[in-house]
Amino acid sequence: MMRRRGVDFRRPVRRRFSNAFWFALFGLVVLVLIVVLSREKRPASRPAAPNRIYRYSNLVQGLNVTEEMLGPYSITRQLTDQISLAKSYVVIAKENNNLQFAWELSAQIRNSQVILSNAAIRRAPLTARESETAIRNMALLLFQAQQLHYDSATSIMKLKAKIQSLEEQTHSITEKSSKYGQIAAEEVPKSLYCFGVRLTVEWFRSSNIQRKLLEGRQTTEKLKDNNLYHFCVFSDNILATSVVVNSTALSSHNPASVVFHLVTDEVNYAPMKAWFAMNSFRGVTVEVQKFEDLTWLNASYVPVLKQLQDSETQNYYFSGNNGDGQTPIKFRNPKYLSMLNHLRFYIPEVFPMLKKVVFLDDDVVVQKDLTPLFTIDLNGNVNGAVETCMETFHRYHKYLNFSHPLIRGNFDPDACGWAFGMNVFDLVEWRKRNVTGIYHYWQERNVDRTLWKLGTLPPGLLTFYGLTHPLDPKWHVLGLGYTNVESHVIEKGAVLHFNGNSKPWLKIGMEKYKPLWDKHVDYSHPLLQQCNIH
Ligand SMILES: *[C@@H]1O[C@H](CO)[C@@H](O)[C@H](O)[C@H]1NC(C)=O
Ligand SMILES: *[C@@H]1O[C@H](CO)[C@@H](O)[C@H](O)[C@H]1NC(C)=O
Ligand SMILES: *[C@@H]1O[C@H](CO)[C@@H](O)[C@H](O)[C@H]1NC(C)=O
Ligand SMILES: *[C@@H]1O[C@H](CO)[C@@H](O)[C@H](O)[C@H]1NC(C)=O
Ligand SMILES: *[C@@H]1O[C@H](CO)[C@@H](O)[C@H](O)[C@H]1NC(C)=O
Repeated sequence: MMRRRGVDFRRPVRRRFSNAFWFALFGLVVLVLIVVLSREKRPASRPAAPNRIYRYSNLVQGLNVTEEMLGPYSITRQLTDQISLAKSYVVIAKENNNLQFAWELSAQIRNSQVILSNAAIRRAPLTARESETAIRNMALLLFQAQQLHYDSATSIMKLKAKIQSLEEQTHSITEKSSKYGQIAAEEVPKSLYCFGVRLTVEWFRSSNIQRKLLEGRQTTEKLKDNNLYHFCVFSDNILATSVVVNSTALSSHNPASVVFHLVTDEVNYAPMKAWFAMNSFRGVTVEVQKFEDLTWLNASYVPVLKQLQDSETQNYYFSGNNGDGQTPIKFRNPKYLSMLNHLRFYIPEVFPMLKKVVFLDDDVVVQKDLTPLFTIDLNGNVNGAVETCMETFHRYHKYLNFSHPLIRGNFDPDACGWAFGMNVFDLVEWRKRNVTGIYHYWQERNVDRTLWKLGTLPPGLLTFYGLTHPLDPKWHVLGLGYTNVESHVIEKGAVLHFNGNSKPWLKIGMEKYKPLWDKHVDYSHPLLQQCNIH
C-alpha cells in the first residue's frame, strides 16, 4: 500500500519541472558538493572544528541514530548504504568521463541526505512512506550504474576504501563525544582486520615461521611447570594481546619464567600464532590455542552454549525488541555472545595441569613486575581481585535482581563488587570447591534472565561470592577507557585497565591515556605500516 502511494505522488511532481530546472539543480548541488568537499579536505583547523561539532551534536540529540541503524528493517541504514554505494559510483562515473551521470547520482545523494538529516532533526525515525521515493529513485540510478558495469568488484572496493578513509578523517573529532562512539566501539577497525589478514597470509606463506614455532615445542615442559608464572588472555584482538604480553615482559624482573597462555578463535588462530612466532618478547614463553579445539566446551556441558541455541535467547540478543522496551545498546553487543568472553569460567579445564594463573583482559597494560601476585595469600579463596565499591554504588544490588527470592535469599545486597581484568585464580581451590559447578548452577537458573541481564560480571559475582580475596587496589587500576583517573594512581598502578568504550586501539580512544598503550606497539613494523595502523 505504501509503495503505491509513493509512486502516485512522485509522477505529477516530476512532470511539473522542466529539464532546465533539473540541470540548474544539479549545478547547484555540484557547487555545494565542491564547497563541502574542499572544506573537508582542509586539515581540521581550529575555527572549523567547533562549528562541525555543533552541527553534528544537533543531529545526535535529535535521533538515536545508533539505535535506529541497528534495527533489522532500518530505513536509515538502507538509505545510508545506498548513499555510500552511490558515492563510489560518482567517482567511477567521473573517471569514465560520464559527468552527466555523476551529476544525477550526486543530486540523488544530496536528496537522500536531506531526508536523513530532516528525520534526525525532528527526533523521529524515518518511515518507509517518506523515503520510498528517494530509495526508489536511487535504486534506479544504482541499477543504471550496474548496466554501465560500474559495479565491478575491484573498482568498488578500491573506491569505497578511499571514500571511507576520507570520511573517517572528518568524523573522528566528533565521534568521541557522541553516541556514534558506541557503534565505533563495537566495530573491529578496518586496520586491525587488515592486520589479521596479512598475518594469516604471512603464516601460510612462510614455512620459516611455522618451523620456529615447531622448534618452540621444546617449551612444552614450561607450559605446565608450576614453578613458573602463568598468565592467560582470551582474546580475538592480536594487537591488544601483543601489548599485554609485551608490557608484561618489559616490566618483568625475570621474563624467562613468564608463560603466556593465549586462547583465541578459529579466525585469529593462525595470525596470532604467526605474530608471536615472528616477534620475541624478552624470552617470555607464549602458547596459542583456539577455543574451537576444546571439544568439552559444547552445548551439553556449557549452559551458555545451550541457551544460545535457544531461539528466544537469540531474539533477545539480536532484535533488541524485548518486553521491557529498550535494551541498552551495549547489551546487544555481540561480545556478550562470545564464548571467548565466558571462557574465564573454565580456566581450570582449559589448563588442567596448572595450579595458579593470573587472568588478564586484553585491554590492559602492565607496568610493574607481577610475580608478587603469585605469592599473595588468598586465605583459601579462589579469586584474588580488586574491589570496586570504594566510591559508592558498585555493590551487588547494582548488578543483580534483588527482587528475586533466589538472589535475596543468598546474597547481601551491600556486598562489595569487584572487577574482572586482573585476577589471581587459585585453580586447586577452584577444582576443590567445584566453582565451575556453581557457575553452571546460576547460569541455568537465569534462562529467563530474571536474575541478571547480560555480561560476565554478574554471574562472576554470584559464582565467586565468599570465594574472593580483595587485593590492594594499586594492582588493578580501572577506568582508563571511560573516565578520568588521577595521575598518581596511574603512576603507582601495576595493571592499567582500559575498561569502557574508549579502547586505546580505536579512534575514539582517550588521547591522554593512549600513549600508555601506544608505547608498547611497534608502529614501525612493516605489517602495521601496510595496514595503516598508527
Ligand atoms: C537513545 O539510546 C539510549 C541508549 O543507547 C537510551 O538510553 C535513550 O533513551 C535513547 N533515546 C531515545 C530518545 O530513544
Ligand atoms: C561434550 O563435552 C563432554 C564433557 O564436557 C564430553 O564428554 C562430550 O564428549 C562432548 N561432546 C562432544 C560432541 O564433543
Ligand atoms: C559440581 O557441581 C555440579 C552442578 O552443581 C554437579 O553436577 C557436579 O556433580 C559437581 N561436581 C563435583 C565433583 O562435586
Ligand atoms: C526480578 O525478579 C522478579 C521475581 O522473579 C521478577 O518478577 C522480575 O521480573 C525480575 N526483574 C527483572 C528486571 O528481570
Ligand atoms: C614492545 O614494546 C617495546 C617498548 O616497550 C617496543 O620497543 C617494541 O617494539 C614492542 N615490540 C612489539 C613486538 O610490539
